[in-house]
Amino acid sequence: MNMCAFALVLALICGVSGQYYDYDAPLFMYGQLSPNCAPECNCPHSYPTAMYCDDLKLKSVPMVPPGIKYLYLRNNQIDHIDEKAFENVTDLQWLILDHNLLENSKIKGKVFSKLKQLKKLHINYNNLTESVGPLPKSLQDLQLTHNKISKLGSFEGLANLTFIHLQYNQLKEDAVSASLKGLKSLEYLDLSFNQIAKLPSGLPASLLTLYLDSNKISNIPDEYFKRFTGLQYLRLSHNQLADSGVPGNSFNISSLLELDLSYNKLKSIPTVNENLENYYLEVNELEKFDVKSFCKILGPLSYSKIKHLRLDGNPLTQSNLPPDMYECLRVANEININ
Ligand SMILES: *[C@@H]1O[C@H](CO)[C@@H](O)[C@H](O)[C@H]1NC(C)=O
Ligand SMILES: *[C@@H]1O[C@H](CO)[C@@H](O)[C@H](O)[C@H]1NC(C)=O
Ligand SMILES: *[C@@H]1O[C@H](CO)[C@@H](O)[C@H](O)[C@H]1NC(C)=O
Ligand SMILES: *[C@@H]1O[C@H](CO)[C@@H](O)[C@H](O)[C@H]1NC(C)=O
Repeated sequence: MNMCAFALVLALICGVSGQYYDYDAPLFMYGQLSPNCAPECNCPHSYPTAMYCDDLKLKSVPMVPPGIKYLYLRNNQIDHIDEKAFENVTDLQWLILDHNLLENSKIKGKVFSKLKQLKKLHINYNNLTESVGPLPKSLQDLQLTHNKISKLGSFEGLANLTFIHLQYNQLKEDAVSASLKGLKSLEYLDLSFNQIAKLPSGLPASLLTLYLDSNKISNIPDEYFKRFTGLQYLRLSHNQLADSGVPGNSFNISSLLELDLSYNKLKSIPTVNENLENYYLEVNELEKFDVKSFCKILGPLSYSKIKHLRLDGNPLTQSNLPPDMYECLRVANEININ
């Protein structure tokens, strides 16, 4: 009996000391202050609050120890998220879940809205059919590209949401109009490669960048862009815009720096504001070049700020260009015709 007890005590000591010597640093290094790492993941010494679990064929979210703020789970086979997956890291700031197999029905409960410090949430290249939520009010950057999203949930109260990437989904205008209205800080919205046939109503007036390439838009409602008083970058390439669908002053937006109308069916160049710097009109049906599209009046202080103008892929030749063009396009350093 005594011998047995002695052996047990020995084993315990050996066990404990064996474990102790497995580490090459003293135990106090592994205290509460510096985060641990899930055994299958990598937490770099130089960036100890980040945990990288990319390319590991993971089927679920691994154990995430307290102290982790940036979590990378890219390119795995994660198809569900349990309600308690992030219970020990409620101060997580970035959560990157690109290239997994997530579906909406398998993301349980309020798993994201409990993360009160979350700023970035990326779920690109998954199997989502609607946006995820509820989302925390701290969120700034949401990316849900390359899914099968046709429905957007409520984004109400997300006052800090600044960037939304929704390209390569199956969104129609109605889904978008209803949803994004109240986002007071939204500056960047990418809705390219969706199924939008009409410009959505109610997009936040705070937008600086709006991308709508590769949709099915054939007309611009009167004064549509007037409310976006700070809009700088607008892309509508690969749509179905023809002259009849573009009212005269549609793109005369004084804040605009870049306008992409390439790959449409325009026969004349839509009027733009003199402040515009980059204008893309390649692959349309342009037959004439009208200086009035760029400059209403000519004068020492009144000329177009266009630097780069693309007109290639149109039935236009050098002889279509009016001689007075360079008085208006004074700072243009590149005009591509053919
Ligand atoms: C959270 O921490 C507790 C205590 O260490 C642990 O039992 C639990 O498994 C952890 N949860 C997750 C999801 O990692
Ligand atoms: C998830 O998406 C992948 C890649 O797009 C596809 O092969 C797979 O069938 C999808 N799974 C489900 C359950 O929809
Ligand atoms: C929103 O951003 C402001 C300014 O950066 C910050 O003070 C505030 O705490 C943020 N709100 C939330 C809910 O995180
Ligand atoms: C654009 O609109 C302004 C008023 O905002 C106007 O003064 C200007 O002439 C217009 N530009 C062109 C080229 O029509």
